[in-house]
Amino acid sequence: MEETIPPKQAGNLQDYEAALKEFTWSSVDKEFDWSKGGAYNVAREAIDRHAQNWRKNKIALYSITATNEVRKYTFGELSELTGRFASGLEKLGAVKGDRIFVFLDRTSELYIAMIGITKMGGISGPLFSALGPEAVKDRALDSSARFFITSPYLYKRLEPVLDDLVDVEKFIIVGDNEGLGEKTVKFEEVIGSGDPNYQAVNMAPTDPYIIHYTSGSTGKPKGVLLGHKSMIQQWYTSRYVLDLREEDTYWCTADPGWVTGTSYGIFGPWFLGTTLISYEGRFDARTWYSIIQNYGVTVWYTAPTALRMLMRAGDDLVREFNFSKLRHVCSVGEPLNAEVVRWGMRVLDRRIHDTWWQTETGAQLICNYPCMAIKPGSMGRPIPGVIAAVVDENGVEVPPKKEGFLALRPGWPSMMLGIWRNTSRFKEYFRVPGWYIAGDQAYKDEDGYFWFLGRADDVIKTSGERLGPFEVESALIEHPAVAEAGVIGKPDELRGEIVKAFITLRPEHKPSEQLKEDISKFVKTRLAYYAYPREIEFVDSLPKTRSGKIMRRVLKAKELGQPLGDLSTLED
Ligand code: PRX
Repeated sequence: MEETIPPKQAGNLQDYEAALKEFTWSSVDKEFDWSKGGAYNVAREAIDRHAQNWRKNKIALYSITATNEVRKYTFGELSELTGRFASGLEKLGAVKGDRIFVFLDRTSELYIAMIGITKMGGISGPLFSALGPEAVKDRALDSSARFFITSPYLYKRLEPVLDDLVDVEKFIIVGDNEGLGEKTVKFEEVIGSGDPNYQAVNMAPTDPYIIHYTSGSTGKPKGVLLGHKSMIQQWYTSRYVLDLREEDTYWCTADPGWVTGTSYGIFGPWFLGTTLISYEGRFDARTWYSIIQNYGVTVWYTAPTALRMLMRAGDDLVREFNFSKLRHVCSVGEPLNAEVVRWGMRVLDRRIHDTWWQTETGAQLICNYPCMAIKPGSMGRPIPGVIAAVVDENGVEVPPKKEGFLALRPGWPSMMLGIWRNTSRFKEYFRVPGWYIAGDQAYKDEDGYFWFLGRADDVIKTSGERLGPFEVESALIEHPAVAEAGVIGKPDELRGEIVKAFITLRPEHKPSEQLKEDISKFVKTRLAYYAYPREIEFVDSLPKTRSGKIMRRVLKAKELGQPLGDLSTLED
């Protein structure tokens, strides 16, 4: 018998099958202020409209610092602060459509800045604070960002590339900017100069509110643009997948540098007026459990690697805590092993609801719902309003249980608007007529549940972070000892995958453990703390096509001891 976990009780979505038949996207319009004549703007819907009703004094954000202090903000306070910030930005010369980067740790200023930017019609560009100077430079140059909001220590990290950031006019510094130069201004001053009653700018549904850089299997990261109309799907899924309710305290553990941390760490839940928790510190099992217990978290959205780390921390630790308030748990970002779902049942006595989506999709698409049976290991079924399928290269649906490309009928509300300054990469997603091709391989079973099999390309997922081999290879070959590099994702029990690099050295360099460490550190400090190769293997040569492209597929097959496949294009 197939393993299934029945629903405990239905949530906000009472009947999935009925919703599949009846639901229309336009039925969501009435949830927003713009449908009653207000300005069309995600910031207004997330914050300002709540500040005009009884939620004015409701806590919008508990921002917990790395040292466990907490700062609380009501919707009323955030409305004023973000209004001030929006208008302060305009006084600095920012205009609608500007790309404005937020390079901060998870502090309350990050949230204020993100909402403030979108309020004045800017395109906010959140950057994970683990990024190194080279990664930030690539993104800033690609998007011609005009402003940065950052902190003194992160600004200093950018010093090696500051001269290259030619389009940036001002760095807005959270904290002291003394000695940081003329291009900097204090966040406090920008807030101080602004108007607390500033009104959100009216935007078109297809105007972008955010640019998220994400990796593909080729080239440097690309800027995915999401539109203000994403609010429709983010509202809907926050309500029916995250199952959020008025009284909830909700914690999304993802960093706003990634799409989960904005679509469901900021906007979606705030469209519903939900109280959010944000924690600045790094992962630590005891601290995480304490947050759930002490803040009475009711809905928790996290990721498989974190859950696996909690599993490793041991069942005894869980028993020290009281999770009686926790009602609903969801996961995203990488395959959620059946084993973890079973652990959730056994130890947390909670079902863990997997959700599948991507930066490019802007919101959840294939999910598990409180009202539906979970099949451990499956990503679930498409949200009402969306058609998902598994197709072959001609766009023809394959039979149940047969592997193929995970595909979606284009046109869901939060689908990306485009890739910044790169139409050809945008078009690649639609190469199979009638479908958006996600880049994942999957199958669908007889009950319509989707199962993830792997990526169809070379994209790496390490601890849930998406990484392109090309970025890592480009960083590696900057190292003086490295001649060539080929990078793959190597399966790893804890992290899903780790980055493994195969490297040929320049003639005057000899392989050594010291050199491996040196190379890892080089990537860590230039590209990103999470992007360095945890494994390095020095080789005499790399498999290449006759045109000189490194065949990562062959490296991976060799690493996994699998058949090497078609080698007819191999150089020798
Ligand atoms: O390969 C799939 C994997 O993560 C990719 C999208 O990554 P990113 O744009 O960083 O977005 C992550 C969070 C929205 C997908 O193409 N992925 C995401 N969710 C799942 C998943 N793989 C398996 N199961 C999932 N639930």
